[in-house]
Amino acid sequence: MSHAAPRPFSTVRAPALAGRVRVPGDKSISHRALMFGALATGTTRITGLLEGEDVVNTARAVTALGAPALKEGDTWIVKGRGVGGLTEPAGPIDFGNSGTGTRLMMGVIAGHPITTTMTGDASLSKRPMRRVIGPLKLMGLEIAEDRETLPLTLKGSDALIPIVYELPVPSAQVKSAILLAGLHAAGETTVIEKEATRDHTERMLRFFGADIRTELKDGKTHITVKGNAEMTGRDVTVPGDPSSAAFLVCAAILVPGSDVMVEGVLVNETRTGLYTTLQEMGADVTLTNLREEGGEPIADIRARHSALKGVTVPAERAPSMIDEYPVLAAVAAFASGDTVMHGLAELKVKESDRLAATAAGLEANGVKATIDGDTLIVHGTGGKVPGGGTVATHLDHRIAMAFLTMGLASEAPVTVDDTAMIATSFPEFIGLMQQLGAEYRT
Ligand code: S3P
Repeated sequence: MSHAAPRPFSTVRAPALAGRVRVPGDKSISHRALMFGALATGTTRITGLLEGEDVVNTARAVTALGAPALKEGDTWIVKGRGVGGLTEPAGPIDFGNSGTGTRLMMGVIAGHPITTTMTGDASLSKRPMRRVIGPLKLMGLEIAEDRETLPLTLKGSDALIPIVYELPVPSAQVKSAILLAGLHAAGETTVIEKEATRDHTERMLRFFGADIRTELKDGKTHITVKGNAEMTGRDVTVPGDPSSAAFLVCAAILVPGSDVMVEGVLVNETRTGLYTTLQEMGADVTLTNLREEGGEPIADIRARHSALKGVTVPAERAPSMIDEYPVLAAVAAFASGDTVMHGLAELKVKESDRLAATAAGLEANGVKATIDGDTLIVHGTGGKVPGGGTVATHLDHRIAMAFLTMGLASEAPVTVDDTAMIATSFPEFIGLMQQLGAEYRT
């Protein structure tokens, strides 16, 4: 997919940020609601769906596969086809910038006797697909090309073989792809994970009526799904995305005098590593009004300006905050002392090499950063971040948002070379920040 011309933007130092806001729906849950709705019988109604480009591409994908997803009023309606009921699309399916859409859908397509070509933008076409294709091939998926990056042509099967598979990388996307293929296999498919990754697939498959169980054995989690599954369409309410809320919360922490409340945010503990880390740094962040919605815990998050100290973030926390390291690094730039983040190997294979892009963005704005293997060390300035630099975003929405957040409190404006990609996950980002009091210039 080709994107619009790059849209550079600068953030200028903001006055105190204040207000109560809601962020759009969680991206992970939005993708899954559309896909699981397509695999269920009957109708699924989704409220609060994220309408970012990534999720809209998944809505188009399920539609192209014979399960129409359409918006009526505030609700997205998916006409499900049942497990194994999807049909061959008329042409290639474009997944844009979305690794989640692509990888989960590979698991779905694997279980259907159809041939489907999957394409993506320049960023997605560089991302590793072997981690998903490898186990799916063991189950019976065929790939036309001798390649492990998009574009790829998949030939699925209605006779998938169940497998027991231990994840070599901590990835919810890989886990989910195998479990989704497992819905179609003849028997039980088990995924074993050493480190817990986000568990939205497990929760939502159960909610849709699939037979799925999770057991702890020898310190590892075994997730088993029964094949030849039957699922029934459900009503899904998507909670606010903690990975989007992160930017507003961090902005409030950095800008003197700020007090911001983000309402209705998903606080599933497989997603809240950033909030734990911010509290350890001394940030005034509180989770209030804890409640449950659609099988997931949610809360309102209040953040106020705080002085911060550097901390060490352990490697085992990485899966629960994997998308939040760029903004944590931006925050750490203002802390006193070093912030040491271990276990960041997976950051190198996100929408960009986020480890390199984050360090380069900091350096461009006068903040020292060191990469040591899979560890990033941000040498905090104790409050005064020079700014004045331009950040290369490499088609990565989170790099753009992280550095626009840093620029709200830096001495000189921070410029990002492009903001167009922000629409993949958080189209309302600039508008919500302006509502809180931030100012930008083009
Ligand atoms: C996601 C899982 C994570 C995350 C991505 C969304 C998901 O990727 O980075 O933004 O919805 O399953 P990995 O599971 O590959 O780490």
